[in-house]
Amino acid sequence: MRKIVIAGNWKMHKTRGEALELVETIRKGFKDNGEIKVIVAPPFTSLLSVSEALKDSTIGIAAQNMYFEKEGAYTGEVSPLMLKDVGVHYVIIGHSERRKYFCETDENVNKKIKVALEYSITPILCIGESLEERKGGRTFEKVEKQIEFAFKDISPENARKIIVAYEPIWAIGTGETATPEQAEEVHSFIRKKIAKMYGNNVASYAIILYGGSVKPDNAFSLMRENDIDGVLVGGASLKGDSFLEIIKAGIRVSGGES
Ligand code: 13P
Repeated sequence: MRKIVIAGNWKMHKTRGEALELVETIRKGFKDNGEIKVIVAPPFTSLLSVSEALKDSTIGIAAQNMYFEKEGAYTGEVSPLMLKDVGVHYVIIGHSERRKYFCETDENVNKKIKVALEYSITPILCIGESLEERKGGRTFEKVEKQIEFAFKDISPENARKIIVAYEPIWAIGTGETATPEQAEEVHSFIRKKIAKMYGNNVASYAIILYGGSVKPDNAFSLMRENDIDGVLVGGASLKGDSFLEIIKAGIRVSGGES
């Protein structure tokens, strides 16, 4: 059985005080019944404070990026070792904003995934097509290539640890969500692709999240789909009440009370 995962990507938002306030609201409002996993991804500057604030909680902590070397002359970068040191368990890799604004390549994404796994940090790999690619009927081709690159030379043992987040670029921050049917079509394609590469067992345990304008009013219908195992939320994760509503939707989907 796959657990529902609700992750909040705060992007470049929240000073340390604001981060602590938000995380406190989430911590108080989330009654963990063991059915779902909640993750928050604050900016680097708040990781330590948030990880201290969540010390006795089951809420996971993710970084939004990471470099693929342990240490060295890489001005401005943060290593997996440093993330471990401040209590990080997950790392978002290959977000479309990093690919677009910071020259993140498929090759780097693959290197980062390998290094994260080496340090026992769970990668949350982001993939997804642009509007142009969707309109041109190239969605599956794009997603397939991104999966092949990202999983290159990764063993089945490690592949099963990777969380995939399908985030169609046209749905990010636009208010335009993929319909549950549109998202499910791609999620099921991704699962089949993982099955082709690693077999049915790895594919059946793979956690595949949807991201792109997820809100309290669409989260339930998305997560109800067979191959949608949770959501990666941007804007709606910045307010305690809307993130908690999405968490409740996850609990309902998993069959628990909310
Ligand atoms: P929005 O929920 O703001 O569309 O952002 C989605 C996203 O990029 C999560 O990583």
